[in-house]
Amino acid sequence: MYDFTTFKPRRGIGAEKWSTFERQAVDNPDLAPYSIADMEFPAAPEITAALKEAADFGIYGYTVADSSYRDAVCAWMDRRHGWAVEPTWIFQTYGVVPAMNLALHALTAPGDAVIIQPPVYPPFRAVVTSTGRRVLENPLRVKDGRYEMDLEGLEALARRSEAKVFFLCSPHNPVGRVWTRRELQAAADICAANGVTVFSDEIHADFVHPGSVHIPFAALDGPAARECIVGTSASKSFNLAGLVTANIIVSDPDLRARLTGKVVGYTGEYTNYFGLAATRAAYEQGEPWLEALLEVIRGNYDYCKNFMAEKFPSVTVYPLEGTYLLWADFNSLGLEPAELERFMVEHQLYLDEGYLFGTGGAGFERINLACPRQCLTAAMERLDAAAAEFGFKR
Ligand SMILES: Cc1ncc(COP(=O)(O)O)c(C=O)c1O
Repeated sequence: MYDFTTFKPRRGIGAEKWSTFERQAVDNPDLAPYSIADMEFPAAPEITAALKEAADFGIYGYTVADSSYRDAVCAWMDRRHGWAVEPTWIFQTYGVVPAMNLALHALTAPGDAVIIQPPVYPPFRAVVTSTGRRVLENPLRVKDGRYEMDLEGLEALARRSEAKVFFLCSPHNPVGRVWTRRELQAAADICAANGVTVFSDEIHADFVHPGSVHIPFAALDGPAARECIVGTSASKSFNLAGLVTANIIVSDPDLRARLTGKVVGYTGEYTNYFGLAATRAAYEQGEPWLEALLEVIRGNYDYCKNFMAEKFPSVTVYPLEGTYLLWADFNSLGLEPAELERFMVEHQLYLDEGYLFGTGGAGFERINLACPRQCLTAAMERLDAAAAEFGFKR
């Protein structure tokens, strides 16, 4: 019913992921990049129809979220995540990352510290350092082939007087973990005991695969959950990142006031007219499309995982509990991270290099699975042929 098979190159429209091709003068029309987390799929037809209707209206003045928009967000959070959100808890920013920046300006001072858990989406670190705050790293650990939070490490860092905020990535990009209630509650208790405010980035919350359940941080027990900031957006789930619209959800009125008090200066108090129209259509009408998409993502993951298991048995492909990003450890090939990157690019494999995600990422690759299957087949076959040419022990 929906088209997840047509390959539609995004050259010449300002697509960030595709700008690599322009920079490197790559003109092979059959190539696709597998990097930045947006998708090579057209949005749900219901969203495109809503955007056309919004465009046809023809007046694009200053826009704010009205009650029907807020109701659509609340209904989605309730239906998909069992989380009862009040309409007044929501405000908009131009993205989850701008909201992280806003939170640091509202809640911390230069020199204060923020805990992050690498390997993690690179802006987690960049937001902290670019605002003159300090990073405290609590690297994830691998146990029995699965990443986990180092809760003792988290507690030791949270106890430090300069630790003010914890940037949690839930589900976690790039390692694909969907944190369990037990893990999240333990982290929440540590933060509550030490006065650390949690910013829970839940932008990947709708990409949760069988066997896992996403628990919104704000739905946990205790003060850290009551006083947390949850970053959400329809942008990942429905491929709307170019419409720069996020919903930040804060139930605590004082905390919310501290944040919204800074909105004018940091992200502006108005919202993207098209972003609102698309998000509302997504949350009201997009669910069947999302369900179909999740099947495609799982099929793509299984294909890549099986291919790697057969052709590169020494490469570890981590379980995909959440997100549409495959995370794989290529260190067994024996290449330095820079050599691995060169090898990939020379063979026209435009992946995200693991070192970009910080501590624990070197020698890994992140592969974006949200593309038509034939793009992944082509990538895997190129990888196989290149490895054969190089005579890698795999
Ligand atoms: C974990 C995570 N947070 C935030 C973002 C970006 O969010 P936004 O575009 O809303 O700033 C991404 C995009 O890849 C992401 O993976």
